[in-house]
Amino acid sequence: MSPYSRITGTGSYLPPRRLSNADLAAELAAGGVETSDQWIVERTGIRARHFAAPDVCSSDLGLVAARQALQAAGLQAQDIDLIIVATSTPDMVFPSTACILQNKLGAHGCPAFDVQAVCSGFIYALTVADALIRTGSARRALVVGAEVFSRILDFKDRTTCVLFGDGAGAVVLEASDRPGILASDLHADGKHVGILCVPGHVSGGNVLGDPVLKMDGKAVFKLAVAVLDEAAHAALAKVGKVASDIDWLIPHQANIRIIQSTAKKLKMSMDKVIVTLDQHGNTSAASIPLALDTAVRAGKVKAGELLMLEGVGGGFTWGAVLLQL
Ligand code: UT7
Repeated sequence: MSPYSRITGTGSYLPPRRLSNADLAAELAAGGVETSDQWIVERTGIRARHFAAPDVCSSDLGLVAARQALQAAGLQAQDIDLIIVATSTPDMVFPSTACILQNKLGAHGCPAFDVQAVCSGFIYALTVADALIRTGSARRALVVGAEVFSRILDFKDRTTCVLFGDGAGAVVLEASDRPGILASDLHADGKHVGILCVPGHVSGGNVLGDPVLKMDGKAVFKLAVAVLDEAAHAALAKVGKVASDIDWLIPHQANIRIIQSTAKKLKMSMDKVIVTLDQHGNTSAASIPLALDTAVRAGKVKAGELLMLEGVGGGFTWGAVLLQL
């Protein structure tokens, strides 16, 4: 058994169809829905998002991200002994997107399962993979966040449809004697189910209820800014570190105002915060690994640095992972 799990490779993928705010506003206007680049930028910080083609699923996006992460780690798919996919937009009701991805990767036999914690999904998945590695159940895990949120948006609801995008991010997490993941802190409070949900479900061959995203944006905003710095401080406290030790904050990319508020509470300059939501929108469980890989490939975030990853989303769920890259 190894004392640590460590990220040894990252990858990500965005589907090619990019819509700027102006492109989206023009499409929405054709359906009688009014919005503007100015409103979206001022209220959210988002400037563009990517939408997958209708026949492309979360596993397809995850496959490209996973292959990149494997290549970065110098591994083949068959070297992996655990696959966890964080998604709220699975390819099918069942089996899991992780099993579908496993087959597409050509890896067979290792455990594969999905984690469903909406926008906190990657933080949950990374924590589960870390625990399985540290207890000796796995040595080389593929942890993927992949989403096609465009499938569950109501394009008549301007308060939600301008916020989200599609994409995937992945990491390879390996057993290591060197420090990697140092601490994590996970939470959920199911009493807030109704403020962010897709209430529809399949029953008797039909979809019952509304199969599109519903959100009380103000309630989500308030909770997010209240809990994110607490989770970060809790993770830091577990290993005797403080916020000023953090080299990079890599937050869930939902709203620049939430990100700025959390950075302020942690007394961190925005120069130390990775922001990709301007180009990606909110890609839910994919947003943190997408931001991480973007920053790694840009040469911003480097081996040895201390990273604080943190997420918040439907459930209500939230959490943080502190790691040394
Ligand atoms: O991944 C985690 C999940 N999501 C989040 O973290 C989202 C959290 N919430 C938010 O980011 C913000 O609450 C929103 C961006 C969703 C909304 O921002 P807000 O500052 O809370 O705006 P609001 O809902 O108070 O709306 C202000 C105005 C309203 O008009 P009136 O009532 O003042 O006349 C809205 O109808 O803006 C209007 N509005 C829009 N206008 C143009 C709402 N959406 C749009 C839009 N374009 N897309």
